[in-house]
Amino acid sequence: MFRDKTLAVLGAGKLGEIIIRVLLEIGWLDRRRVIVTARHRETIEARIGTYGIRGTLDNRAAAREADLILVCVKPHVVADVLSSLNGEVHPAQIVISTAAGVSLRAIEAGLGAEVPVVRAMPNTPCLLRSGMIALAAGSCVRIEHLEAARNLFDAMGRTLIVEERLMEAVTALSGSGTAFLYLVLEALVDGGVSVGLPRAAASELAAQTMLGAARMALETREHPATLRDMVATPAGCTVEGLLELESGGVRPALMKAVIQATRRAAQLSAGAIR
Ligand SMILES: NC(=O)c1ccc[n+]([C@@H]2O[C@H](COP(=O)([O-])OP(=O)(O)OC[C@H]3O[C@@H](n4cnc5c(N)ncnc54)[C@H](OP(=O)(O)O)[C@@H]3O)[C@@H](O)[C@H]2O)c1
Repeated sequence: MFRDKTLAVLGAGKLGEIIIRVLLEIGWLDRRRVIVTARHRETIEARIGTYGIRGTLDNRAAAREADLILVCVKPHVVADVLSSLNGEVHPAQIVISTAAGVSLRAIEAGLGAEVPVVRAMPNTPCLLRSGMIALAAGSCVRIEHLEAARNLFDAMGRTLIVEERLMEAVTALSGSGTAFLYLVLEALVDGGVSVGLPRAAASELAAQTMLGAARMALETREHPATLRDMVATPAGCTVEGLLELESGGVRPALMKAVIQATRRAAQLSAGAIR
């Protein structure tokens, strides 16, 4: 898909590595056309050793030869990285930033050129190509730029194009949301263990049930209440369990988790470069 393009990953840490790994595994990139940077030489050498790609400590040199520039450094490092690219990037390139809370306006200003910039918010299941990735387009982005960014992330899961003002909500729901669901998963497993299931069996039953329920919602596009009603027979066991969940406040607790995480994302974003 991108085999004739050169990809520079500026900051090949956890997320940068996931992206490289997935794209190489599915053969979408030519490893000779992938160049990574990092703060430490050891990180670069590790990536070169694992993936047979290229690497440098020089962000500017990496960006110079790239068609796609992926900025994967921590938010507080973005300003430095962008200023090192100032004057080097040009409109034929696409810059994609994954830095949480760093606005498109700040990235465009930091680059100091009219370059297409896309903001992306992926989550960790990208590693298994089951991620959720939201994308927001900067002021110089044309449809073909957005399609290129979308194609890149389609390899890692589902993509959704959103207005930038919704990025904090996305961070809370699909970013932090994985952690919320792990907590629910752990509680279901403990419930299974407490009624006699071996832990390994309870873990498999609970995780596959969560996966299946999510697939039902995505693939049938039915309202969750409709899917729930399909399971809850009158005077049956499911409705008893649902009563416990409702009286335990699971619904408002999960809603509040998303609301609070969105607030926190907005606070962090206000402290980042804008
Ligand atoms: N991890 C996730 O699941 C996730 C999800 C969504 C968004 N994000 C965003 O993605 C970004 C990266 O997150 P991460 O979890 O991958 O962080 P990370 O593991 O800490 O990776 C950051 C990488 O940046 C490198 N780096 C630091 N300063 C640099 C510089 N001046 N020039 C070039 N590279 C530099 C580091 O190099 P060294 O290794 O040598 O120190 C490290 O490899 C963050 O902005 C985060 O908000 C992450």
